[in-house]
Amino acid sequence: MSYNLLKGKKGIIFGALDEKSIAWKTALRCVQEGAEIVLTNAPVALRMGTIKELAAQCNNAPVIPADVTSNEDIERLFDQTLEHFGGGVDFILHSVGMSLNVRKGFHYTENNYDFTHKAFDISAISLHRVLATAMKKDAINEWGSVVALTYIAAQRVFPDYNDMADAKALLESIARNFGYHYGVKKKVRVNTISQSPTVTTAGSGVKGFNDFIAYAERMSPLGNATADQCADYTVTLFSDLTRMVTMQNLFHDGGFSFTGVSESVIVGMAK
Ligand SMILES: NC(=O)c1ccc[n+]([C@@H]2O[C@H](COP(=O)([O-])OP(=O)(O)OC[C@H]3O[C@@H](n4cnc5c(N)ncnc54)[C@H](O)[C@@H]3O)[C@@H](O)[C@H]2O)c1
Repeated sequence: MSYNLLKGKKGIIFGALDEKSIAWKTALRCVQEGAEIVLTNAPVALRMGTIKELAAQCNNAPVIPADVTSNEDIERLFDQTLEHFGGGVDFILHSVGMSLNVRKGFHYTENNYDFTHKAFDISAISLHRVLATAMKKDAINEWGSVVALTYIAAQRVFPDYNDMADAKALLESIARNFGYHYGVKKKVRVNTISQSPTVTTAGSGVKGFNDFIAYAERMSPLGNATADQCADYTVTLFSDLTRMVTMQNLFHDGGFSFTGVSESVIVGMAK
C-alpha cells in the first residue's frame, strides 16, 4: 500500500547487494512511495550482486559505483547524481557495513588493526565522508533527511559482534555531531536506526547468528523487526512527517532494547 509519502522527493540509496539487503527493500519502498532514486554500491559488490534487477524495478534508476572509503568516488557519485536530478537530493540511506575481523573470525581481544581501521572507515567514517561531500557540494535540499543503519551493540556488549560494535558507536556519534552542524546550516536531519538482527549477507557473517536471532526474537515483546518493516520506518524518516527528528538513535527492534528479560527466555532456560 502506498501513501505517497515521498512524492516528488529524490534520494540516494547506498548498500543494496541482493534482495535480502535492507537497502534493497528500502529502495523498493521509497519508489513505491513516489520517490526517484539513485542506487550505489562498491564496484566489487556491483559485479557480484544483482543490483541491475533492482534498478529495473525502480523505474530504471541509475546505478553509480562508489567505494565509500574513496573521496573521489563519493565526489563523483554526488556530481553524477546532481546532474541526473538537475539539483539536490532530499534523502540518503547509508546501509553499509563490513569487518574483516568478523569475516575472518578473529577474536575481539586479538583483532588485526589494519582490519579494524578498514572496518571503521567503511562502516562509520564513510557517513562523515558522505555528509561532508554533500555539504561541500550543497547536494542535500533544505529539510532533507539522512538515515544510517546501526545495531544495539553500540550500547551493550554482544561479544561476537566484535569490532563492528566500536564501528557502530562511532557511526552513531558521527550522526549526532554532523546532525548538529547540518541542522544549523541547512535544516538537514541525520538519524540512525538501530535495527533488530536480520538475515542478510552482512548479518549472517556474525558468529552464532542463527542462535542469536532466535534469542532476540524471544526477548522482544513484538518479535524481531524484519527488513521490510525497517524499510517502512525509514520511509517515515525520509517523509515530511518527521521534520523535527534529528541527531537521534532510534531503536527499531520490537522492544528488545528496553526488555531486561522475557518470560519466553526464562521458560526456555528452565527446559
Ligand atoms: N543484518 C542485521 O542483522 C543488521 C542489524 C542492524 C544493523 N544492520 C546494518 O544494516 C546495514 C546494511 O546491512 P545488511 O544487513 O542489509 O547487509 P548487506 O550485506 O546486504 O549490506 C551491506 C552493504 O555494505 C556494502 N559495502 C561494503 N563495503 C563497502 C564499501 N567499501 N563501499 C560501499 N559499500 C560497501 C556491501 O556491498 C553491501 O551492499 C549495515 O550497516 C549493517 O551493519 C544490519
